[in-house]
Amino acid sequence: MLNIDLASKSYEILVQKDALKKIGSWTGELWSQRKIALISDSNVFPIYGETVTQYLGIQGFEVHSYVVDAGEKSKSLATANEIYDFLTEHDFSRSDSLIGLGGGVIGDLTGFVASTYMRGLSFIQVPTSLLAQVDSSIGGKTGVNCEKAKNLIGTFAQPDGVLIDPNTLKTLPDQRLSEGMAEVIKCALIQDDNLWKQLRQMTKLEDIMANSESIIQKALQVKKVLVEKDEFDQNERLLLNFGHTIGHGLEASSNYEMISHGEAVSLGMVQMTRGAEKKVYAEVS
Ligand SMILES: NC(=O)c1ccc[n+]([C@@H]2O[C@H](COP(=O)([O-])OP(=O)(O)OC[C@H]3O[C@@H](n4cnc5c(N)ncnc54)[C@H](O)[C@@H]3O)[C@@H](O)[C@H]2O)c1
Ligand SMILES: [Zn+2]
Repeated sequence: MLNIDLASKSYEILVQKDALKKIGSWTGELWSQRKIALISDSNVFPIYGETVTQYLGIQGFEVHSYVVDAGEKSKSLATANEIYDFLTEHDFSRSDSLIGLGGGVIGDLTGFVASTYMRGLSFIQVPTSLLAQVDSSIGGKTGVNCEKAKNLIGTFAQPDGVLIDPNTLKTLPDQRLSEGMAEVIKCALIQDDNLWKQLRQMTKLEDIMANSESIIQKALQVKKVLVEKDEFDQNERLLLNFGHTIGHGLEASSNYEMISHGEAVSLGMVQMTRGAEKKVYAEVS
């Protein structure tokens, strides 16, 4: 278990295999009885929606689920608007809350809606993709895309807690697992030699699955320290952008269609490392 300790707020990140089955009691420790809007997508909800709804129900929470189409297109103001309508129809007030169950798209969208509806409702993140488990679910950046640019509209809003069940990665497509690994490798390269050594021993996806809990915890630890030093992304936190300037350029030039974020960041890190190598060799020779 990890804690994020910020000036404004502290919250817990639970990383544990099968943690989804604890979501009722864990949420019960954080929140009194209330309505919960469970926001998820069309891939994730059919697999995990019932378990989450069931355990929250056993704890006495009144759960209303809203499922959006899977994919980046749902991270939009239009979808946010639909969720605002859904919350209004179900009489959500400031004492009610949201839970985001899904990848980074769902996390960013849920955080954005929660932080803007009635000037802010509390929310919990339940990330199910590796990228969301090691990166997007912590740190408090929320947002939606607009026609001209990604993540242009958003807020800084911290969740009340993050529950990570590494077993959800068993249903994540291999390509998505590899994309998430780009952010794990980034964390190792910028700040954790031991994680780097551990990763270098791994040769196949099964090795990652077998070590998922410790990999996630170590990557999160790197992000935690940087976020705690610089919540609003002005100094130390920028280190997490290693490989991202080139990566974002590649993503944008392919119109966000041909290359994924993880693939683009991987290429960005390789280029930056080559550049750094050249510079060092030039300086010593
Ligand atoms: N807020 C932040 O700090 C931050 C940081 C990095 C990235 N992001 C955002 O995160 C988003 C990308 O996140 P992502 O890669 O998770 O994308 P995503 O949410 O689209 O998930 C990727 C795909 O995997 C599916 N999926 C997720 N979990 C699954 C599971 N357990 N089993 C089966 N399928 C599953 C989803 O339905 C989707 O099709 C982007 O919008 C990016 O801008 C935000
Ligand atoms: Zn990234």
